[in-house]
Amino acid sequence: MYDASHNFLNVHEWAYGATEIVHILSLTAAIGFIALVDLRLLGVAVGQASAARLARATAVGSLIGLVVAITTGFMVFATDPVRYFNHPTMRLKLVTLLVAIIFNYSVHARVARGDFPLPIRRGVASISLLLWVTIVFSGIFYSFT
Ligand code: HEM
Repeated sequence: MYDASHNFLNVHEWAYGATEIVHILSLTAAIGFIALVDLRLLGVAVGQASAARLARATAVGSLIGLVVAITTGFMVFATDPVRYFNHPTMRLKLVTLLVAIIFNYSVHARVARGDFPLPIRRGVASISLLLWVTIVFSGIFYSFT
């Protein structure tokens, strides 16, 4: 049986705080890079770069951000797995995260790099932003409830 009381993050308070900080910084970077592409697809972003160029330029940054956010998320999760797993917004966040990642690397990547009509570009960008905003708010929600 897993005993969370020996978890490194529970034994060392600084490590818990440091991991939370890295979680927040990395998720901000990941979603920030993805949102840059979304705003360009919506046609509301400043600057001249096309969505395809922005998608290429931000791909590595958003991938690193996602990998670090997911890794640190599971590290914090492991400090109290039963409580976190039983929280409905944590489950909502994990399911939405899975959908968002699949969407990001399939439909979103294709539309950002292709030559699609404006309504499709806008629809895809709106879905992407909605998914990421849902994930962020469900994360904030269980942190403070
Ligand atoms: C890109 C993906 C992710 C995003 C955008 C995200 C978002 C967030 C946000 C906004 C918070 C609240 C931070 C705060 O205000 O304290 C948070 C905390 C947290 N996240 Fe994530 N998260 C992601 C991935 C994950 C994953 C994969 C897990 C693992 C199950 C996870 C587990 C946690 C835990 C345990 C907390 C701390 C809750 C607390 O303060 O008690 N996250 N996340």
